[in-house]
Amino acid sequence: MKAKAKRKTGEYERRTVAGEEVSAFIPFPLPPRDPPLALDLDGDLAPLLARALEQIRLLDLAGDLVPSVEWFVYAFVRKEAVLSAQIEGTQATLMDLLQVEASGEEPADADVEEICGYVAALNYAWEELGRENGLPISMRLLSETHRRLLDGARGAQKKPGEVRRSQNWIGGTRPGNASFVPPPPHWLSELLSELERAIHDQSDLPPLVRIGLVHVQFETLHPYLDGNGRLGRLLITLLLRHWGLLSRPLLYLSLFLKTHRPEYYRRLSAVRTDGDWEGWLSYFLEGVAVVAAEAVATARQLHAIVAQSRARLMARKDATVMSIRLFEFLPEHPIVTVNRVIELLHCSRPAAAKALRVLEAAKVLHPLDDRKKNRAVVFTEYLDHLREGTELSA
Ligand SMILES: Nc1ncnc2c1ncn2[C@@H]1O[C@H](COP(=O)(O)OP(=O)(O)O)[C@@H](O)[C@H]1O
Ligand SMILES: [Mg+2]
Repeated sequence: MKAKAKRKTGEYERRTVAGEEVSAFIPFPLPPRDPPLALDLDGDLAPLLARALEQIRLLDLAGDLVPSVEWFVYAFVRKEAVLSAQIEGTQATLMDLLQVEASGEEPADADVEEICGYVAALNYAWEELGRENGLPISMRLLSETHRRLLDGARGAQKKPGEVRRSQNWIGGTRPGNASFVPPPPHWLSELLSELERAIHDQSDLPPLVRIGLVHVQFETLHPYLDGNGRLGRLLITLLLRHWGLLSRPLLYLSLFLKTHRPEYYRRLSAVRTDGDWEGWLSYFLEGVAVVAAEAVATARQLHAIVAQSRARLMARKDATVMSIRLFEFLPEHPIVTVNRVIELLHCSRPAAAKALRVLEAAKVLHPLDDRKKNRAVVFTEYLDHLREGTELSA
């Protein structure tokens, strides 16, 4: 992308925080509109935007075409939840999350609890948007979503559901050496109203571009004491629906943001310091295109794995009705225990154990550990595909 003249995107306000002088940043309202601020969407961004839109369209279409889209919604929402939490250092994996879900117990681990909070928060907001008289995209909706996101031991001190009333900072050990100081709290209510307005106003900008702008603005405002990254990424999912681009939460953009995290932070900063909206948008649109294409391919692979495994099971002489019924639950319960099977199939313990034995003999399920009692078994081939990119070393 060619070098551009710097563009001013806000004002600084000097303030004293914890005894130190800092410059808090107050961004201009969206969108960057009048020359010389207007966005340049014609140059290098045009093909990136076209590609991102096309891939999103194909992902949305894939959702309409597969017979069991609920599986993918279940799987991809969890994938996004894990990746979004990992961006800021959560040390739990998709396997950890699914194991806790399989146990039917409350998570004992704070990292897994955080991911469960994300899933609950997204489900809440998604339902609100679809419900008659539900909350529209608004600060009220976001605060209610934030409350659920931070509903756990670790989040409790971070004022879940409340816009901050104190000054925060990003990076560094104290305000004085922070890489960025967001707006002072007394500015927030005005700035957040402007952000709501920018979402609901008429605009000539393509919706995907607007989503990119809103994400940066949300992170720049950093309205909460914690959870701003996760909520800002969740907002991307909600806006994709709001603007009619994706009718289900199938885009796990955090895979791209996590893989290219230093660039993610650098691009966010460069909007503030250099006004480089185009640089951010090129990164964001590339991420959308790459992840949407990868999600379509993954959906296809998962679908093929289910079909092949089903065929293998059906070909067996020992296949029982219960084992076939259990199989159909596996995409939404890729880790199960005998207790869970009893609940799912409403059957006796011996019938559940038999169904599990058949699926193990068919090499669909594999033991996760060597526990004797209520041990967990895994739909291995399926999960190995789904969890790509969600391991901690990735
Ligand atoms: N330089 C920056 N400018 C603006 N936002 C940033 C910058 N660096 C990081 N961020 C955003 O801040 C988020 C972290 O904020 P935080 O409130 O701790 O969120 P969470 O707890 O969900 O990780 C990052 O994920 C990123 O979205
Ligand atoms: Mg945090």
